[in-house]
Amino acid sequence: MTGSVKSDLTDYLEKTYPQTRDELFDFLRIPSVSAKSEHNSDTAKAAEWVRSSLETAGLKAQVFPTPGHPIVIGEWRGAEGAPTVLVYGHYDVQPAEPLDLWTSPPFEPTVRNGNIYARGSVDDKGQLFLHIKALQAHLATRGKLPVNVVVIAEGEEEIGSDNLEHFVEEKKDLLAAEAVVISDSAMFAPGQPSILSSLRGLAYFELIVEGPTVDLHSGAYGGAVVNPAMALARILATMHDEKGHVMIEGFYDSVREWKPEVLAGMRKLPFDSETFRKETGAPTLGGEKGYTVLEQLWARPTLEVNGLLSGYIGEGAKTVLPSKAMAKVSCRLVPDQSPQEIEKLILAHVQKVAPKGVNTSVRFLHGGKPWRAELNGPLYDAARRALATAFEKPPVVVGEGGSIPVVGDFERILGAPVLLVGFGLPGENAHAPDEWMSEENFRIGMRAIAAFWDEYGVASKSC
Ligand code: BES
Ligand code: ZN
Repeated sequence: MTGSVKSDLTDYLEKTYPQTRDELFDFLRIPSVSAKSEHNSDTAKAAEWVRSSLETAGLKAQVFPTPGHPIVIGEWRGAEGAPTVLVYGHYDVQPAEPLDLWTSPPFEPTVRNGNIYARGSVDDKGQLFLHIKALQAHLATRGKLPVNVVVIAEGEEEIGSDNLEHFVEEKKDLLAAEAVVISDSAMFAPGQPSILSSLRGLAYFELIVEGPTVDLHSGAYGGAVVNPAMALARILATMHDEKGHVMIEGFYDSVREWKPEVLAGMRKLPFDSETFRKETGAPTLGGEKGYTVLEQLWARPTLEVNGLLSGYIGEGAKTVLPSKAMAKVSCRLVPDQSPQEIEKLILAHVQKVAPKGVNTSVRFLHGGKPWRAELNGPLYDAARRALATAFEKPPVVVGEGGSIPVVGDFERILGAPVLLVGFGLPGENAHAPDEWMSEENFRIGMRAIAAFWDEYGVASKSC
């Protein structure tokens, strides 16, 4: 395994690994699906599990209830005069459905080809847990950490972190920190450590088109009554042009130009779009013309349909004119777009294009702001050094197309820079059947983060 630089910390992590792995598997067995209320007792159980594992690691930990799922806080404040770092992760997971597409049950962790298969293995339980274990390595071997640490684990990331912003505002004294560290993303390639420079934001909607009060006989009424499914299809079709641009008026107005060196950095990464296409199984790639795939994914905003519902979808044919049609639509945002601004623009657009003969409404479900990093200072220096040591290769800087809503809030409310360093891998099936995390990455991740605390302890002293 890489990470051959031995230390008391790596020794400890190696020695305790069988136990660590058992504990991780216990964590992964809890079906803490935040989206489904039938799992509320499981999210509560996962929160309690995190609290107890923080205590085992040597932190003082408590569970805070919220109007949604609980938030867990762990604290270790024994480094007098040293800075405080906030570590964030989430213990909630996405629903596991469709279950029949899993090779092994989603909540029964199984190792195949060196990968741990389970819902939440990489997103984000494995990555949250490797942080807890890295802290434990310091506290168990040396009885202390070079800096003060606060851990915050939430249970609503996968449903938009609705209660977290308010919590951070309310508890900003408890959470006050000089820096924030998060592992909830992937590396660019196996063996290639990566630091994130941006995340896209999100604005999520339900678009509902209603016509007749009940489903009608499509022969007796079709032709005279406007069909809500067709009306919805027409509305959706107005949202892009043939070049893949989003046609919502004003959609691109707040898009901030990317620094040329950031774009140049993206172009230099060894990215093969054919390998990427194969990974998706799509016949060809598409998207907004005039941009590379990485730019489309990391630097450009999008509008996508996430779900469609209308009419008869059972076996065989049924001649029916549906009374209602619904689309789930979401936009990925880039700096400086905001979910609130996009909500207004979408509303105005739908009102403008909605056909007569149906009632159309838009319901905003949730959103999150986009984020871009400055990438300098002791926090990033420490991360670069720790990753280079653990992976025996310097990290690359990458963007990310997904969202972690709280990142922008941390920066704004706490005034602290955020470091995103993830240990997932391309093809990890996050949110999909057969989600996995590389066991080797889990192990090197623990070492890298353990080394990071030493590096940051030094880097923050010298400035
Ligand atoms: N771990 C992801 C964020 C992420 C996505 C990182 C893709 C790297 C690649 C996170 O758990 C997530 O899925 N976020 C949601 C946020 C949403 C529900 C507000 C997302 O991006 O869809
Ligand atoms: Zn996720």
